[in-house]
Order: sequence, then structure tokens, then C-alpha cells
Amino acid sequence: MAPPASKRPSRARRSRADAAAARPWSGRFGEPVDELVKRFTASVEFDRRLAPYDIAGSLAHARMLAACGIIGKADLAAIERGLEQIRGEIAAGRFAWSLDAEDVHLNIERRLTELAGEAGKRLHTARSRNDQVATDVRLWLRDAIDAIRALLAKLGERLLEQAERHAALVMPGFTHLQVAQPVTFGHHLLAYFEMFERDRARLAECRKRVNLLPLGAAALAGTTFPIDRERVARELGFDGLCANSLDAVSDRDFAIEFASGAALAMLHLSRFAEEVVLWMSPRFGFVRLPDRFCTGSSIMPQKKNPDVPELVRGKAGRVFGDLVALLTLMKAQPLAYNKDNQEDKEPLFDAADTLKDALAVFAELVAGIEPVPQAMRAAALEGFSTATDLADYLVRKGVPFRDAHEAVARAVREAEASGCDLGGLPLAVLKGFSAAIGEDVYASLTLEGSVARRSHPGGTAPEQVKTAVARARKRLAAGD
Ligand code: ARG
Repeated sequence: MAPPASKRPSRARRSRADAAAARPWSGRFGEPVDELVKRFTASVEFDRRLAPYDIAGSLAHARMLAACGIIGKADLAAIERGLEQIRGEIAAGRFAWSLDAEDVHLNIERRLTELAGEAGKRLHTARSRNDQVATDVRLWLRDAIDAIRALLAKLGERLLEQAERHAALVMPGFTHLQVAQPVTFGHHLLAYFEMFERDRARLAECRKRVNLLPLGAAALAGTTFPIDRERVARELGFDGLCANSLDAVSDRDFAIEFASGAALAMLHLSRFAEEVVLWMSPRFGFVRLPDRFCTGSSIMPQKKNPDVPELVRGKAGRVFGDLVALLTLMKAQPLAYNKDNQEDKEPLFDAADTLKDALAVFAELVAGIEPVPQAMRAAALEGFSTATDLADYLVRKGVPFRDAHEAVARAVREAEASGCDLGGLPLAVLKGFSAAIGEDVYASLTLEGSVARRSHPGGTAPEQVKTAVARARKRLAAGD
């Protein structure tokens, strides 16, 4: 793979000391790493975003080393000063990231050694990049989970506001995408609230398994130094320790668990997105979206396209892909750490970034949805959506449900033939299907009557929607 020595770029001919600074493992090697291999194995392009977590982890590790008498106080002070300076350089965009130093960990360590000399070289005592990277990823993911859970709560609030506003607005509910029974728009929105609440709970569960400290596992077997892992865990806000060093450095199930939670949240968003797309189509015309969420067509001047929900629907596929990538990279890896695990970062970052963006944009979009009551009403009236109510009416009059079902089916056929809704059939005609039908039947055939009567916990009645919103607000306020 290596080009002939004469053609190698001059960078490859740098002194052994330079090589050692960039790649501290190079002492074992007889020739510099091939340029292509260097590029292929480096991760700094994507793992540099772990830098703040890498620094926090290193500070906690160094303080523990000093507290346990493994490094001196002066070394610790030099390490702390150096790492703070590096933090500033990175934040200001002044840090000289280098592919030569492979990954975020070695980039920072190299700079620390420039700044702090010998002390910088002592930082890696009782540590390996294997437990270091596992720690960084867990710290990063903990923050990502917290941010995503806050966005889910925000989306939930927007849904509750709309559900409360439209608690009594009647729309057709669908099964098989055929008009089934009237529901309230508020109730429909609350269905999504429930899904997103489960997503939020799932991530809280996942966070418990993310928030454990791998440091101390070192390369795989632990370390010969008298370290204090509890101290490091406390400083970094971990709830506890990874209990087995081999497991600590090798498994990424916590990332897979997160990605599966993210995939489910994207799945829920994409179902919602699909409905918004349908509702916005002039064939439904159930909702309008503010122009700021739509785009036009470059050729068809009349178009207003629902690009935002369409993209959210499309991006769900990306996050499912991230999940599958993580599952596949972990599968069949022997214990303990393998470089395969370096491939965990891009899918993990992508899943979190994509979900964050989708949630943020959807919270705004939900707040902007304007229902069109007349269109919802017309659709609900067209589909004989109160047929079940008529059957229930007959049952209340003593007719067995199966007979009632049969009578109503015939009434629906009659209404269809006469081009009207059930409520449009004269009493005499209705009576022809069942003698039990009386004048009071019409109250059961209205959309409002239909939804109001479904008044039990979990039902679609406006009163139940308001109760559910109040209960949901308490759940959100409890902050769990
Ligand atoms: N960049 C590596 C990763 O992301 C860090 C750990 C490297 N460890 C090793 N033994 N080469 O996994």
C-alpha cells in the first residue's frame, strides 16, 4: 500500500520524536503508518465533537490520580491548566486538529503534552483509550438524551395546547383509512401525546444504563494502580460503575438502546407527519399549515407543498438505518474492545441530531396547525360514521347487538342509495329497519351526540379530552 519511499510525502518522513508525539503507540513500529491507512483509521473528523466530554473525563481522572497519590500535585495543576487552555482553544475554533493524531483523545493529549510537558504524559496512567472513549460517548449521550427528552416534553406541551383548544372539534376517525366513527380533533392529537410520552419514558430508562462509568477498566482487564473509581463517577455525575472491565470497554448496547428509542420516536413522528401530509392535501383539506412550513414548486405556481412533514417522514428511514448499523457493528464482536466500535459514533450522532431537529421543527409545526372544521365535518357526515351509534341505540332499546348491526347495515345501504347520511332518512323509512326506532333516534345520529356519549377514561368525548389534558399537564410538570 505504501508508495515508494522517494515519493512519500515529506510529512511521512518526520522525525521519530514527532511521530511519538502524534501517535504514542509508534515506538513499537519499524516504519511510519501508510498515509491511506492513517486516513482510514482516523476518527478525528467526527469524534472531535466529543472534546468537551473528553476534557471533563480527563480532569476527573487526573484529580483522582492525584488524590490517590498516583501523580503529584504539581502534575495535576499543570494538567488542569493545560486542559482548561485546550478547552478554550477548541471553543474559540483555534485548536489545530490533526489527522496525524488519529482521534480526539490523542489530539488533546498531544496538545496537553506541548503545554504541560512531562505532566501531560502522566495523564494516561491507569487509563486506556478504550475506557476513555466509552466514557466520552456515555457522557455525550447522557446530554443528548436530556436534550431530546426536553424537546419531547415541548412537543407534548404544544400537542396539549392544541388538544385543549380543539377538544370539541369533530372530525372523522379512520380505520383502514375509511371513515369509521367521529372523534374529536383533540382526542386524535392526544393519541400522539401518548406515543411521545412513551418515547420520553423509554429514554429515561435508557439513561439509567447509559449513566455508568467505564473508566478504571483501562484497556480491558483493569489497572494495577490503586485507583478510586467511585470518586471519578461522582465528579462526572455517573450513577454508578460499569461492573465488569471487559464489558465496560466493549459493549455498546447502551447506544443501541438509545438508537432504538430514537427510531421509535422517529416512527411516531413519521406517522404524524403522514397524517399532516394527508390532511393538507386538498382532497382532505382538514388542516392548513402556515406558509413558513411549506414550499412552492418551481414549475407549478399553484402548489404549496408540505415539505417539512415529508422530510420528517423521510428522515425516519435514516434513523432506522442508524439503529441497524449499530446492531450490525456490535454483532459477533469477540470480547473485549475492537476497533469496530469506532464506527459507533457516526450513526449514534446522526440518530440524535436527526431526532432533535425533527422534534424541534415538529413542535413548531404542531403549534401552527389550523384545522378546517367544515371540511372535517363534511367528511365525517359523508362516511355514515354514526352507524355504530345507531346500533348502540337499538341495543339500548333491547335489540340484540348482532340484530342491531344487521338492521343498521340495511339502513346504510338505503341511505347510500338515496345519497344522504343516516340522519337524512325519514323516521318512517328508519322504522322499516327496526320497529324499536323512535323519534329520539336522531339525537344518536348527530356527530356531537356520538362523541359526547363516549365519555369514559380514554374516550373521545370533549369532556374526557379536557380531563386528559389536565392529567397530562400534571405528568409533564412532574418532570419525570
Ligand atoms: N478512536 C477510538 C474509538 O473510537 C478510540 C479507542 C481506540 N482504542 C484502541 N485500542 N485503538 O474507538
